[in-house]
Amino acid sequence: MSHVSWDESVRAFRITGFDEASAVLRGQGWSSDPANSPLVPDDVTQLPSSLMLFTDPPDHTRLRRLVAPAFTARAVEAFRGRVGSIVESCLDQMEDAGEQVDLLADFGYLVPLAVIAELLDVGVEGAEVFLDQTPDLVRLLEVDPTPDDVRLAVTAGFEVTMFLTPVLAQRKGGDGDDFISQLLRTDLSVDEVMATCVLLLAAGHETTANLIASGGLALMQHRDQLPALHENPSRAIDELVRLEGPVRIIGRTALTDHELGGVPVPQGSAVLIELDRAARDERRWPDAERLDLTREGPGSLGFGTGIHFCLGAALARLEAEEALTRFFNRYPNAHALTGVPRWRDSGTFHALAELPIALA
Ligand code: HEM
Repeated sequence: MSHVSWDESVRAFRITGFDEASAVLRGQGWSSDPANSPLVPDDVTQLPSSLMLFTDPPDHTRLRRLVAPAFTARAVEAFRGRVGSIVESCLDQMEDAGEQVDLLADFGYLVPLAVIAELLDVGVEGAEVFLDQTPDLVRLLEVDPTPDDVRLAVTAGFEVTMFLTPVLAQRKGGDGDDFISQLLRTDLSVDEVMATCVLLLAAGHETTANLIASGGLALMQHRDQLPALHENPSRAIDELVRLEGPVRIIGRTALTDHELGGVPVPQGSAVLIELDRAARDERRWPDAERLDLTREGPGSLGFGTGIHFCLGAALARLEAEEALTRFFNRYPNAHALTGVPRWRDSGTFHALAELPIALA
């Protein structure tokens, strides 16, 4: 079976093999800029132009270098104690909601929200704006957006920007140690700091919420693997990211002629890299469909790879580790209330629409 094929219905090449996907993500001659993509409507140019996810070198190199120091594994590890306390208070809050709760809305969303609100130091008011806006904001990451996706994402971006404008103005020139103040002290312009904050929300909130909820569901469905979660949370999260990774597809545009897996991919073509299918490539993982939290060995592409490798990967892993181990410590018998879970209708994201559960 070919791992690279043309899909006329979306007018893009679909890439489903691990090696072929890595070759694109790590190779030269591919663009992440929506302005180059034949799939993205023209009005996407209304979005801030300095979102690093959507830039190519040299702009990308500069933006990423300035923002990256705050996200190293070491910098993030220093935050573990705080994340643990945030998780505990989210669990308390969820418990107050009753015996039956929604693991996505009442827990999954709250953990990354509280973490990002604390990182940016925006208080309860900021957290509310972020909670309201991120479900729409994340539409800007859809690889094949509808006009509605674009309209809603632009409006949400505007709302977040409105909230953050006075915050940035007030912190500019100050010596605060919150993340916004730190970014304002780098060579980034105020507009670039704003775009970075919007991107962190768009890229970090929903994805992490979904990993917590989908990972939680997988564990409830494979309860025999709970000991492996507690024994080595970091290894367990890697396996959950492989099979339950929230990002299903990432897009690129060919800037030159390429050949992938024997298939010619001409300049100007859009490619859709299917991370979920690459994660089930038998050439890389024996018995690839099977969830095995003790699996050692090669990593997946759940956080991407190459120059755009997820900036928040260490933070997201940490949040998922703390959230899932603490949740199952408290509620080892929690179970889903629906036999068939309801998934969100999105080509780009692997995301539950809801996850009603009973805690005991
Ligand atoms: C489970 C949670 C997450 C998943 C699965 C995930 C996945 C990804 C993937 C696949 C990419 C690469 C996109 C591409 O190559 O086009 C990416 C990039 C990115 N992610 Fe994440 N992400 C997660 C959480 C986070 C968090 C918590 C943050 C920040 C707070 C974050 C910030 C970013 C940023 C800024 C980029 C762009 C990096 C660049 O362009 O150089 N992500 N993420």
